[in-house]
Amino acid sequence: MGGTPLPDGIKLIDENGKRLDGRRPDELRPLKIEAGALKRANGSAYLEWGNNKVMAAVYGPRECHPRHMQDPTKALVQCHYNMASFSVDDRKRPGPDRRSQEISKITSEALTHVVFTEYFPKTSIDVYIEVLQANAGTRCAGLTAASVALADAGIPMRDLVASCAAGKIDDTVVLDLGKEEDNFGQADIPVGYIPRDDEIVLLQMDGDLTADQFKTGLNMAIEACKKIYDVQRDALKRKYTLPAGKTDEGGGVN
Ligand code: CDP
Repeated sequence: MGGTPLPDGIKLIDENGKRLDGRRPDELRPLKIEAGALKRANGSAYLEWGNNKVMAAVYGPRECHPRHMQDPTKALVQCHYNMASFSVDDRKRPGPDRRSQEISKITSEALTHVVFTEYFPKTSIDVYIEVLQANAGTRCAGLTAASVALADAGIPMRDLVASCAAGKIDDTVVLDLGKEEDNFGQADIPVGYIPRDDEIVLLQMDGDLTADQFKTGLNMAIEACKKIYDVQRDALKRKYTLPAGKTDEGGGVN
């Protein structure tokens, strides 16, 4: 991010308005979600979004430890975002870092808005997000998968959170940045959205945009979140309507 020029004058958008992977500016990468991919977790979801592969698992509500963290009035939603060492080209140093702490925090906050935490005082709802393969947009992919995993765990929620980023590359506002677009682009705006309440629960911005570009990007991300929301609901419907013994093949957009 930050407008670094591409090597050899390669453009992120060609003369036909197509991006490096052939997408139009307002086109999402292919997205697939499978609800209930893990047997031992209370709820789970596996997601493939372009070249991102993410697993989300939910445990709880369960007694919150250490006890001094307990809230006598509500549950804590605690997200643990982790990128596997093998998820990126250069091996990532294992363990938590500032970036994973930041993503865990914003994801916890976004999900706290939708979970009826007051139903489960003194407990913790633990959400583990494991990025197995990363290709930009993993915080949005993690939040999208975690919402489905929470619903799969049967945790009462106002709605699902759908998440997607918009951004700016070659002075053009585009949807759902890929890795090169994230690295060499000018801006990135991850958005978390609740369609039913038309409410934004996550909004970040990296890079520079004019007020108009920001509005265009935000609207683009919100429209995309509505499509992602349908894929999330579909994943849950498929799991809970399939006859016993049948496995989920994974649905999606594109
Ligand atoms: O993944 P997201 O776009 O939400 O977060 P980011 O901090 O903007 O990271 C963008 C991308 O950079 C990630 O999705 C990874 O593909 C890559 N990355 C990496 O290669 N090594 C890291 N230690 C962190 C990120």
